[in-house]
Amino acid sequence: MSESKHKSSFYELSIPERRSKLIDSGLISSESASAWSAGGGLDESTADHMIENVVGLFSLPVGIAQNFVVNGREVMIPMVVEEPSIVAGASFMAKLARTGDGFTAKSAASEMIGQLQLLDLPDLPKARGLLRANKKRLLDLATDPNSTIVKKGGGPRRLVVRTIRNSAIGDFLVVHLIMDVGDVMGANVLNSALEKLAKPVEALTGGRVHLRILSNLSDQRLAYASVRVPKEALAFEGYSGEQVRDGIIEAWAFAAADPYRAATHNKGIMNGIDAVLLATGNDWRAAEAGAHAYAARSGRYTSLSRWSKNASGDLVGEIELPMAVGIVGGTTHAHPTAKANLELLGVRSARELAEIIATVGLAQNMAALRALATEGIQRGHMSLHARQVAISAGASGQQVEIIADQMVKENNIRVERAKALLDQGSIHD
Ligand code: MEV
Repeated sequence: MSESKHKSSFYELSIPERRSKLIDSGLISSESASAWSAGGGLDESTADHMIENVVGLFSLPVGIAQNFVVNGREVMIPMVVEEPSIVAGASFMAKLARTGDGFTAKSAASEMIGQLQLLDLPDLPKARGLLRANKKRLLDLATDPNSTIVKKGGGPRRLVVRTIRNSAIGDFLVVHLIMDVGDVMGANVLNSALEKLAKPVEALTGGRVHLRILSNLSDQRLAYASVRVPKEALAFEGYSGEQVRDGIIEAWAFAAADPYRAATHNKGIMNGIDAVLLATGNDWRAAEAGAHAYAARSGRYTSLSRWSKNASGDLVGEIELPMAVGIVGGTTHAHPTAKANLELLGVRSARELAEIIATVGLAQNMAALRALATEGIQRGHMSLHARQVAISAGASGQQVEIIADQMVKENNIRVERAKALLDQGSIHD
C-alpha cells in the first residue's frame, strides 16, 4: 500500500502549515478550512439560536488522525478532544494497520427505532392482535410522502409490538416503529412519525399512548469494523510481535469477562468515537447511551471489541456497536467547523461516516491495549501531560516542548516546576 503524501511529518508542521497541507492536497477548500482558525468557526449569533441563555463559546482542539485506510480509501479523520495521546494513538495504530490491509468496515441500513408506550388497555392481548393485524395501515399512516427521506427511498419499514410485564404500573404494550432515516441522525423525523401514530394507535386499541420517543439503543443501525495486523509489525523496543499480540488478547479477555474492566476498556473506545462525533456535530450522548446499552445486551456488561489471532498468528480486532449519525441537517451543517470536518472526511453517506467512526473506536482501543499490555500508558501520557502543564504555567510556542521535555527528564511534572523553568528566562518563545 502506498504511503500517503499527506501524512509525512504532519505533526512536525505548524498549525497554519498543517492547514495549508490539507488545502494543497485538495481535501478541503481554504474557505472551509478557515472554520478551524480562532474566531473562524461558530459565531455568537448562530450559537444563540442553538441553545438557550448563551453567554459565549467554548473551544476545543481539532486534531487530524493520520494514516487511516478504511475499505481501501485513505481518509484524514478530524477529532475534537482535550485528552492528550488520543489523536497520536489512533494515528499510530492506523499506521500499523497499513502493514496489513488497513481497516475493513461495514454498516447496516440507517434504521432507527421509535417507541410508543401504550397504557390503560381494556384488553391487552386483543390490542396486541389488532396492532399486529393493522401493521401495514399504521406504517402507511406514519409515512409522509413529501418528506425528503421518503423521496430518497427511506421511511417507515416495520412495526414490532412488544409486551412489557411490569409490577409497578401493570403490564403494557410497546410499539416499535422502525424507520430508515437515510443520511440524518433521525431523532426529529422519527419523533414526528411517532406523534402521527399516537392517535390512530389509541383509536385502534382503546388504550392511552404515553411516551413517544426514539430509542438510543439503535441496534438496527450497527457499524462494524475489523483489522488485521501482521504480528511482525507489532514488535517494538524489547517486545516481540507475539508478546504484544498475546498481551492485547489477554487485556481484551479481562474486559470481556469483567464489567469493571469493560467500562474502562469501552471508555477507551469512546475516546476515539466521541472525538469524531464532536468534530462532525453529531450527538455523542446518543452514541454513548447506545454503545453502553449494546455492551450490556446479554444482561452482563462486556467489551464492545474482540481481539484474537488468526491461523498465521496475526492480530485480528473487531468492533460492533450502534452508530446513529447524520451527515446532513442539525448541527452537522449549522456549525461551520463540523461542516469543514465533514468536507475533510469526504464521506458520501451517514453509513460511511458510521463505518469510519467504528474504525476509529477500534484503533483507539488497540492503542490503549497495546500500551497497557507493554510499557503502561503513563510513559506516553506523561510527555503529553507535561505539555499541558507547561501551557497552564504560561508557556507558549517552542517553550512548551522544551519545558515539557525537561519536566519529563526530571520526572517532576508540576505547574510550579514549569513556572520555575519559565522564570529562569533561558527559554524563549
Ligand atoms: C484513558 O482515557 C483510556 C484508557 O483507560 C482505556 C483503557 O484502559 O483501555 C487507557
